Amino acid sequence: MSGIVELKANKLNTQEFIEQKAAEISSAVGKGAAINALSGGVDSSAVTMLGHKALGERLKTFFINNGLMRENEPEQIVALFKKMGVDVQVVDAQEKFFSALKGISDPEEKREAITQTFYKDVFGKLVKESGAKYLLQGTILTDVDETVAGIKRQHNVFEQLGIDPQETFGYKIIEPLVQLRKDGVRKVAAALGLPEVLFKRMPFPGPALAARVIGEVTPEKINIVRKATSIAEKQLSSSGAFQYMAILHQDRVTGMRDGKRDFGLQIEIRCWDSLDARRATPTRLPWDTLDKLSSQIINDVPGVVSVTYNIASKPPSTMEAV
Ligand code: XMP
Repeated sequence: MSGIVELKANKLNTQEFIEQKAAEISSAVGKGAAINALSGGVDSSAVTMLGHKALGERLKTFFINNGLMRENEPEQIVALFKKMGVDVQVVDAQEKFFSALKGISDPEEKREAITQTFYKDVFGKLVKESGAKYLLQGTILTDVDETVAGIKRQHNVFEQLGIDPQETFGYKIIEPLVQLRKDGVRKVAAALGLPEVLFKRMPFPGPALAARVIGEVTPEKINIVRKATSIAEKQLSSSGAFQYMAILHQDRVTGMRDGKRDFGLQIEIRCWDSLDARRATPTRLPWDTLDKLSSQIINDVPGVVSVTYNIASKPPSTMEAV
């Protein structure tokens, strides 16, 4: 669909792939410097290691704290990479993202606001300050496919949409993983020596928890979905599922607390079985598991009176709600 040749995970020679991509990065960047943003997902983690293998200290890695990440995520990721000898600088951009998202409830406009804030405002400035002409990015083939098909604009896809990053943002983008899907990236990440917590890490979208808040994204709503996410991730970690998440709905429903009406919040849980995120079916979770999830979310997340479990497959559903 995009003209990019897919490299299937079962045909992938990871060592050859790593050597070839490291050489390509070195020759593209030459004696200059490059920069990349690490989110801690398997894609950006693999790119970070690959880039450091190719460029060493000439690759500057940043963790952009957009305020939309999960509990303690920035600290955990920085600590993991420090152990592997990679220095990651955290950039606090929370206010910028929340002010860009203010008043926006349309899903595509939310994604666009995050993209613009990330690439133009926060990252554009970092690139200018660093003098780097190249940005290394962990775009994978599924991101490209879904964007080109018009299903969901992935925040990291430009060229295929006819956007020239050099012209628009002032830097070139190198995408070493663009021929792979998630299963291929996991193999490469393992071969790069990343720990299992990283190469087996559950996917998490670029727009982060903003992809899981229906309607306007505010710091308060992110706090609520962050708490529910933390509970869902802990309770479903042994489910063997591909991905699981909590979503905060916009509509309120009548509940009751202390004998009075509590027109409260709704959390939806999604838990997916999937190979590569192109198709997915809801995991057949035991009722007991669902029951425990619901009790803890109702008890520990303020204002929630309803917890539902999604039973629709992708397609026509998508995995994230926004
Ligand atoms: P959907 O919701 O499109 O998700 O069925 C498929 C997979 O992609 C992840 N996802 C994203 N990843 N940037 C990303 O890097 C994004 O904008 C994005 N949107 C969805 C999602 O978590 C799932 O694994």
